[in-house]
Amino acid sequence: MQDEPLDDALADAGYHHVPDDQGGRAARRWWDANAHEYLDEHGDFLGPADLLWCPEGLRESQAHLLGDVRGARVLEVGAGAAQGTRWLRTAAGAHGIATDVSAGMLAAAARLDAATGTRTPLVQADARALPFADGAFDVVFTAFGALPFVPDAHRVHAEVARVLRPGGRWVFSVTHPLRWAFPDDPGTGGLTATRSYFDRRPYVETAADGRVLYAEYHRTLADHVADVVGAGLVLDGLVEPEWPAGHERVWGGWGPVRGARLPGTLVVRAHRPPA
Ligand SMILES: C[S@@+](CC[C@H](N)C(=O)[O-])C[C@H]1O[C@@H](n2cnc3c(N)ncnc32)[C@H](O)[C@@H]1O
Repeated sequence: MQDEPLDDALADAGYHHVPDDQGGRAARRWWDANAHEYLDEHGDFLGPADLLWCPEGLRESQAHLLGDVRGARVLEVGAGAAQGTRWLRTAAGAHGIATDVSAGMLAAAARLDAATGTRTPLVQADARALPFADGAFDVVFTAFGALPFVPDAHRVHAEVARVLRPGGRWVFSVTHPLRWAFPDDPGTGGLTATRSYFDRRPYVETAADGRVLYAEYHRTLADHVADVVGAGLVLDGLVEPEWPAGHERVWGGWGPVRGARLPGTLVVRAHRPPA
């Protein structure tokens, strides 16, 4: 497994274009190297077996965005440590498979399985090239997985459309596009727009030799809708979870100060048209 820390000295971080192949490839190594740190920081909030849609704390057990999944074939892309699929299998009666591009995150999933006495089917796969047959799933979902880290999100949606059966559902959460215009600061410093919402340059971290270490891509609300519709899917609805009263947990740029004023997460619900 590739859990060693990144050895590169970070030379530059900012918003600029990088070749798409480099930007899209960076996620695998970055998440391999940062799996432990990410789960040390957020693992208790995520829980070992739970489907948390966002830092606002919206959980599938209350939101029911996937509908009734009892007996359904469910695929999670960009699953990380597979907490969502583990919950769907153990508490909601679904037949779930978790996929992720990072071996480090899947190793963390295997450790959670060992700790909880569960066995989650884990498959290493880029969400842009899924190793599953056409129409193999009733439901596909991700919570902040894959989509923010690829320059060509339309390929994820196309793959999801392909592996869904006619009538099957696709639900995904991402950082709310509006956030792109604001500094990534959970306090009052994050309340003043300093960038253009329409600036699609990714946030990129590069090594001293110019290699891309991390890339995160912005899509406007219209871009997300165009991706879904362009894949031949039908948009069912958008959810903008509100920050709950009394919820004090800070996660990166998310927290109660900004949460009271600005949306932090966008959840998109869609389905493949029935045959
Ligand atoms: C923020 S985590 C989300 C995972 C989980 N839902 C969670 O909340 O911890 C993002 C995940 O997306 C995965 N990822 C990034 N690019 C991907 C790609 N192209 N295909 C599949 N997974 C990808 C990363 O490896 C990482 O596990």
